[in-house]
Amino acid sequence: MEKIKVLFVCLGNICRSPMAEAHFIAHVRNAGLEDRFLIDSAGTSGHHAGEKADSRMRYTAGAHGIDIQSRSRQLLRSDLMEFDYILAMDRSNQRNILALDRGVNPMRAKLHLMREFETDPDNLDVPDPYYGGQDGFEEVYAMLKESTANLLKSIRQEQGI
Ligand code: 4NP
Repeated sequence: MEKIKVLFVCLGNICRSPMAEAHFIAHVRNAGLEDRFLIDSAGTSGHHAGEKADSRMRYTAGAHGIDIQSRSRQLLRSDLMEFDYILAMDRSNQRNILALDRGVNPMRAKLHLMREFETDPDNLDVPDPYYGGQDGFEEVYAMLKESTANLLKSIRQEQGI
């Protein structure tokens, strides 16, 4: 059976999108659906390509029992055709994704902002924790835990699984 392909995108692919990816993997595992999904993350910038996720993000996730395994990679134009769902962490990421999608064929992926899946968001951007303190990482952790759970519910409804 074709896997459902889900990609999380931020700027550096070292803080927000690796956290979203790790939460989504955990939710999918808890639902026993790991065979049905291909899950990845990428950054619109290739600045941190090849690096592990930021140690502060890994520490925060680890303190809650979640292991972040991903290595940073840059978003490719081919990803826009390859994936079924692309989740942008903020509106700037969303603009950069749309700017990459300038080919003859419009992108195949359904593009959403991550926080559209939050129950009561006060803002549509997942704040970039990179230049802030530990609180920012905790906030991003909690925000993404909820929104990725709701994303899985939404995809399950849409795909009838
Ligand atoms: P991310 O955070 O987009 O959540 O991975 C950032 C990481 C690095 C930089 C910016 C944002 N940077 O400018 O190096």
